[in-house]
Amino acid sequence: MGDRLRELPSAAIEEGVRVPPGPVEPVDLLTIRQDPLAFLTHVRARYGDVSSHVIDERVYVVNRPELARRVLAANRRNYVKAGTPDDLMLTPLLGKGLLTSDGELWKRQRRVSQPPFAPERVEGFDELVTSSTLELLERWTAPATASEPLRLDHQLSGLTLAIVARAIFGSDLTGINERFGEAVDVLNRFMGHYDPLEDSAAGREARAAFSRAVGFLNGLVGLLVQARRLEGTEGRDDLLSRLIEGMPAQGASAEAQRELRDQVVTMLMAGHETTAKALTWTIVLLDGHPAVGERLDAELDAVLGERVARAADLPDLPFCRHVVQEALRLFPPVWLLSRRAVNDDELGEFDVPAGTLVCVSPYVLHRDERFWEDPECFDPDRFSDDRSAGRPEYAYIPFSGGPRHCIGRHFAMLEAQLVLATMRRRVRLTLVQGHPIEPEALVTLRPRHGVLATVDARHG
Ligand code: HEM
Repeated sequence: MGDRLRELPSAAIEEGVRVPPGPVEPVDLLTIRQDPLAFLTHVRARYGDVSSHVIDERVYVVNRPELARRVLAANRRNYVKAGTPDDLMLTPLLGKGLLTSDGELWKRQRRVSQPPFAPERVEGFDELVTSSTLELLERWTAPATASEPLRLDHQLSGLTLAIVARAIFGSDLTGINERFGEAVDVLNRFMGHYDPLEDSAAGREARAAFSRAVGFLNGLVGLLVQARRLEGTEGRDDLLSRLIEGMPAQGASAEAQRELRDQVVTMLMAGHETTAKALTWTIVLLDGHPAVGERLDAELDAVLGERVARAADLPDLPFCRHVVQEALRLFPPVWLLSRRAVNDDELGEFDVPAGTLVCVSPYVLHRDERFWEDPECFDPDRFSDDRSAGRPEYAYIPFSGGPRHCIGRHFAMLEAQLVLATMRRRVRLTLVQGHPIEPEALVTLRPRHGVLATVDARHG
């Protein structure tokens, strides 16, 4: 794509500002949207660690781990989410919950939300994860459904949604589960194909469906919060009780109610689609690498025997962890992080004028041959202690880095490993031959055509 464009192949000085290399001509957003991963990969190959692009506005793309660290951690106060494309896309649904807030509000929300996500607290969710998985496996292997290929990606989204909903609300949402799932589907679809400019009939219908789904979710969350307040939170161990307890004293004010709603919806949405995609890609990769699957099974058999895995087993299942980590490397569900510079800054040898949009792509960093030998290859052993030594921390950021790293990362890792271990012990999943598998970078990195798989109960 760069061949057609006039370029600044090396740094240039524009009005006293040291601008990184990049195409001089504006880049068409629609072209990028057709294949953002190809664009980002091309940009790194052509322009190196920092590049500059005019995409409606000046955008920097950063591909060096130390500079990613500067944006996300060392100088993070200068890089905010407000006004980024992600912020504009997510705020209509999430309001100002933890994922979309900034500054003092973010700091308070993070302090309140942090304790329930500590590793030792998260371990207490293990039974909930495995029992939800076993229920799903029962349905998959029931005679009526067993011979039909499954839409695996959808099934896993349903599973992770049920898990996070149970972790938040402490109950199954029995009775409303289906409508709840449908509403979340509409929201995911809308955000997945978000286009603020689309003014077609389909676009208007999608916006109307989005508004209805938001209304439904708001009503539901409002009811559940109210019910929990009436019941009392004492002695309850779910996330909702913990979030309610963490609210400031004026917890019943309209503003506080709104914030609680935003927090709960944020956890629901941030807490399921990402993990579902991590699991989907893990299963896709294992299907293509049967020898890796056999090693995983051998580890699970040796450690678990006939038992269902528990959190306490995970330290003894390092290969299982490496398989999930490697899937998150090749297909990080959050493939792009964006921030806006508040004040002028420097990134390496370049100036960052205030207001510049700065992007860091986990997808590109995770495939950088300077830090990853044979980066396209699925090789879980690269996460062994030996082979990880010396790798820059910010070369691997599936959960981002710095103080705004994913609050749910221990939850997500626990969940992904336990779901995978529980499934491998009970069933064999085989992808339907000939069905194309191709990544599509929307809100999350997902398989463009979905994933179809058949299920066989595992014997012996
Ligand atoms: C494999 C699964 C997951 C991945 C790959 C993932 C990835 C990420 C990433 C990259 C960020 C930073 C986004 C940014 O800076 O723009 C983030 C933030 C966040 N994630 Fe996750 N996440 C996962 C699972 C979860 C789960 C299970 C939860 C909750 C139950 C969760 C809740 C959040 C929240 C609330 C934030 C905002 C944190 C803050 O800004 O302080 N995530 N996640």
